[in-house]
Parts: sequence; C-alpha cells; structure tokens
Amino acid sequence: PKKVTIGHLRQLWRTKTPITVLTAYDFPTGRLCEKAGVDITLVGDSLAQVCLGYESTTQLTMDEMIHHCRAVARGSKLPFLVADMPFGSYYSIDEAARNAFRLIREGGVDAVKIEGGKDIIKTVAKLTAIGIPVMGHIGLLPQRHTVFSGYRVQGRLANRAASIVADAFALQSAGVFAIVVEAVPAPLGAYITENLQHVPTIGIGAGKATSGQVLVINDALGVAEWAPKFVRKFGNIGEKAEEGAKAYIQAVRNREFPDNEESYFMAGNEWRKFIH
Ligand code: KIV
Ligand code: NA
Repeated sequence: PKKVTIGHLRQLWRTKTPITVLTAYDFPTGRLCEKAGVDITLVGDSLAQVCLGYESTTQLTMDEMIHHCRAVARGSKLPFLVADMPFGSYYSIDEAARNAFRLIREGGVDAVKIEGGKDIIKTVAKLTAIGIPVMGHIGLLPQRHTVFSGYRVQGRLANRAASIVADAFALQSAGVFAIVVEAVPAPLGAYITENLQHVPTIGIGAGKATSGQVLVINDALGVAEWAPKFVRKFGNIGEKAEEGAKAYIQAVRNREFPDNEESYFMAGNEWRKFIH
C-alpha cells in the first residue's frame, strides 16, 4: 500500500474509478479510514457538530481544527489528507494563505478545502499558485447556513443551478484538484461532472454520477442520532455502542464484572505480614 497522491486521484478519475472519501476527526477514525482503504481522508469542519457539540461549523476555530488534524494525521498516513478551512479563516487572501500553511505545517495535512465558488476565486487561485492543493466545495455551503436560512438542497431553481455550474468552472480555472458538490439535484451533479474537463467531482447528496462520493463517517456508520436524506447507514455503531455501555453498567451493578479471569492474583499471603 502506497501513499495516495493527486496523481493517483487523477488516475482514478481518468479511468472512471469512483473516488472514495470519508471524514475523520481523531486518531481512531483516522486509523479506520486508512485500514478500510479510503482514497481521501477529510478532516471536515463537520468536526464542529459531530465531535465538539457546536450548533454549526461557524463556531469552529483554526486552533481546534489543527488539534484534530494532528490526531488524524497520526492515524491516517496512506490516504490523501485534506482539511477544511474553518469559517473566517480565509476572509482575505493573506489570511487564507497563512491559515492554509498552518493546516499543512502544524496540522500535517496534504491539502485544504474551501467553501465557495466565483466569490472566493482569487483566494483559491492564490493558494494553488503558491503550491497549496485546494479542493473546492459548491452547492450547499454549511458555513453559510445563516445566509441560506438553513441547510437545504441547492440549485432546484434555474438561476441558482446555472450559478453553481459557473462556480464549478471558476474553481476548475483557479486550479483546484477536485470539487465537492453538496446537496444538489442529481442531474445538476451529473452535468457538472460531465462538463468539467480537468477535475473530478466528489458528491454528497449530488446523485450517482459524480466522480466520487463523500460521507461524514458518523453518518455512514450510524453513530449520529439524526442524518440528512442523502445519508445511507452502512453500520449501526450508535445502537451497538449504547448496547455495550448498558451491558457494562448492568454487569458492574450485578457484580458480574470483573470476573476472576479479568483480575490479577499473586502467590501466597506473605505480603499481609508487612502491613502494620
Ligand atoms: O465538513 C465536512 O464533513 C464536509 C464534507 C461532508 C464534504 O465538508
Ligand atoms: Na465541511
């Protein structure tokens, strides 16, 4: 097994092999992504809600993101490692470059992801120009949930659909290596995927035609209590975990745990004589 590179991702895209992406937030989820053989591990800013209990991604700081990136990087060495740039960390081009360097140097990631299209194109172009690989993110932009009045499918109306297509082309021109397309009608996901000439799309709630798929790992494994329409539960970890915790509590209360096999013993009773 070798480290996944942008060249490897391009090869997958050229041969129409779906690119697989999962999020990770700490050492164990990073290990899991690597052992499962995912192509890209994404330290998404969904970290805010999934792991830190914040209301939205807008609460997450750069320092928090870096702290978690370091843990993921220690566990996920082979997949290509991407980190979200937190809300407010790319408000100017200089800030974006400074914070992207921090994610790479301190966080240990290979690339950064930024939400937005035409509106942030100068920032994206600058980052790619100075050698920072950038992943785009269009359609539903969770960092703008307040502006969007919530989290809802994007591009059902003609002018918004056209605007999202324009975002994709703008990002391609700015040199991104891939684009996440979130919560758009499947035909729009397909159109963007077919018409981009240089970069793969990674869909989440964007239909089956995108070049790859991404899911939040807690959603995919069935850890989360609630998940959006576009999620499929590939596991039932939440239920299993609750069962396990309850079984432990019951066993302790019934004095069934620990048993002798789970305890340490010693030879003889001599030690008692040393107690005064
Ligand atoms: O933050 C995140 O987890 C993401 C993916 C779901 C694309 O941005
Ligand atoms: Na994100």
